[in-house]
Amino acid sequence: MQKPDYLKAIENRTSRRAYTKEPIEAEKIAYLQEIIRTINTESGLSITWLEDGSRAFTALKSYGMFKNVGSVLVLKGPRSVSDLSERIGYYGELLVLEATALDLGTCWIAGTYDKNSNLFSLGVDEVLVSIISVGNIPAEQTLKEKLISRIVSRKTLALKEFYTAEGEIPQWFLEGIKAVQKAPSAVNSQRVRFWYTKEGITATVPGTWATDPIDMGIAKVHFALATGGRFAFGGQGEFEKG
Ligand SMILES: Cc1cc2nc3c(=O)[nH]c(=O)nc-3n(C[C@H](O)[C@H](O)[C@H](O)COP(=O)(O)O)c2cc1C
Repeated sequence: MQKPDYLKAIENRTSRRAYTKEPIEAEKIAYLQEIIRTINTESGLSITWLEDGSRAFTALKSYGMFKNVGSVLVLKGPRSVSDLSERIGYYGELLVLEATALDLGTCWIAGTYDKNSNLFSLGVDEVLVSIISVGNIPAEQTLKEKLISRIVSRKTLALKEFYTAEGEIPQWFLEGIKAVQKAPSAVNSQRVRFWYTKEGITATVPGTWATDPIDMGIAKVHFALATGGRFAFGGQGEFEKG
């Protein structure tokens, strides 16, 4: 499988909440399912592709924020997996970028859907962390989408708000932070911070919101894709440049 241009996908991605009724092409679904299989093997997660998740989006359950939701990625995994929510953030965002590269619209949804719907049947020890809607989208955001993004988002922080550095930072570190600035986060809270010291690079998040570790996984994968390297999971997890 050829890897997509992740940087372009990072650049182009924005949360989309209104979909067209046009079904997703079979080849695109097959491609995403193949990636899901690879991710599950690598990560220990049990992410699934749900063809029709629309029942979890009745107006009452989704506060009428979404339109024509069809397929969703169900992001779940065994309770025993270490740093479960952070892993979900990391691999879920990788899937978001893959879908973006296929010209599909996506939105992370951890709150505004019916989590208790029997659509999401879980194994005994499985935890449902979040879902991601995926579908064909109108080229331009609808007026309602624009309004909702304004309501749920706060201003994007300046680059320097995302990190603390000991001494001079190399340009590649800054490129990583630029990719972090473009990452989605719950209510655009942008709570993940990066630390650059002589000992290495780490990332932290307050941890007081259930979505914090998900946001940390998302920020780490953006940083890793833009700089070429790998981040270990967890608050102490260090970045290793490739
Ligand atoms: C972990 C997580 C959970 C989210 N949950 C929801 C949600 O429940 N409902 C929703 O409409 N948007 C949700 N979002 C989307 C954010 O509001 C959105 O990413 C943020 O406002 C930044 O906008 P952007 O993605 O267009 O850059 C979530 C995003 C993340 C990362």
